[in-house]
Amino acid sequence: MTPRTRVALVTGASRGLGASIATALAAEGAAVAVNYARDTASAAAVVAGIEAAGGRAAAFRADVTDPAEVARLHREVVAELGEVDVLVANATGPQPEIGVESLTVDDLLTQLRFFAVSPLLLTQQVLPAMRRRRWGRIVQIGSEAFELGTPGSSAYVAAKGAQLGLTRSWARELGGTGITVNLVAPGFIPTERHTDVPDTDRDRYARGVPLGRLGTAGDVAAAVAYLASDRAGYLTGQRIAVNGGNTL
Ligand SMILES: NC(=O)c1ccc[n+]([C@@H]2O[C@H](COP(=O)([O-])OP(=O)(O)OC[C@H]3O[C@@H](n4cnc5c(N)ncnc54)[C@H](O)[C@@H]3O)[C@@H](O)[C@H]2O)c1
Repeated sequence: MTPRTRVALVTGASRGLGASIATALAAEGAAVAVNYARDTASAAAVVAGIEAAGGRAAAFRADVTDPAEVARLHREVVAELGEVDVLVANATGPQPEIGVESLTVDDLLTQLRFFAVSPLLLTQQVLPAMRRRRWGRIVQIGSEAFELGTPGSSAYVAAKGAQLGLTRSWARELGGTGITVNLVAPGFIPTERHTDVPDTDRDRYARGVPLGRLGTAGDVAAAVAYLASDRAGYLTGQRIAVNGGNTL
């Protein structure tokens, strides 16, 4: 009997790290749900790229911070691709720099919606099938900012800390179910949203990194693909920093 194709749901996969993660998981043989918020054409391009390489993918528009939208997203993914085996909680909204005096409660809650509420909503949708199958992979995309305490980003940093806390507790709770929960913490990886970051800033960051270069979306995707695979079956509750050693 041929083994069933695994299904991966990657949130925020129309561009940036998510697009690369979706492409890498498809290359490993998964059917990939490419979730996105608004950029339908970009999501379609990611799907087309996967299909051109011989993989299987479909795009799903949904706001992953909204409970009803997450439930609808899950229903649509299951109907089109099948039950989800691999969840990658990657989506992010804007990450404005705001000093502590100006930071509002809403600013803080917005970041928590992306990095704590959304992973919870998504995980609750995919868990029943993962438990039934006694196999599942939940990979959260955190950030080195939590270790660095990046100034002007306290809401983002706090929410990324919350995401790491969820990862660790869920890893223990789900130990013995065949489901692993890990977090990949990228360093500064220039993506589409960083086009206005000057070369001088990129160079300064790269010089401070032990490996002496900027990372790529592919570096992050390779770590996620590993954690999502059978090869990582004895690894849970971990934070894997993909940042050239910047926080060692
Ligand atoms: N790129 C970096 O330097 C870096 C560094 C550390 C951590 N990260 C983390 O990596 C992840 C991806 O970052 P990126 O730089 O690739 O971001 P990005 O801005 O390039 O992409 C964001 C994606 O999220 C989607 N999105 C936005 N709001 C959404 C919503 N409400 N519902 C569903 N999808 C939504 C967008 O459509 C897009 O596909 C984030 O969790 C981010 O915090 C990135």
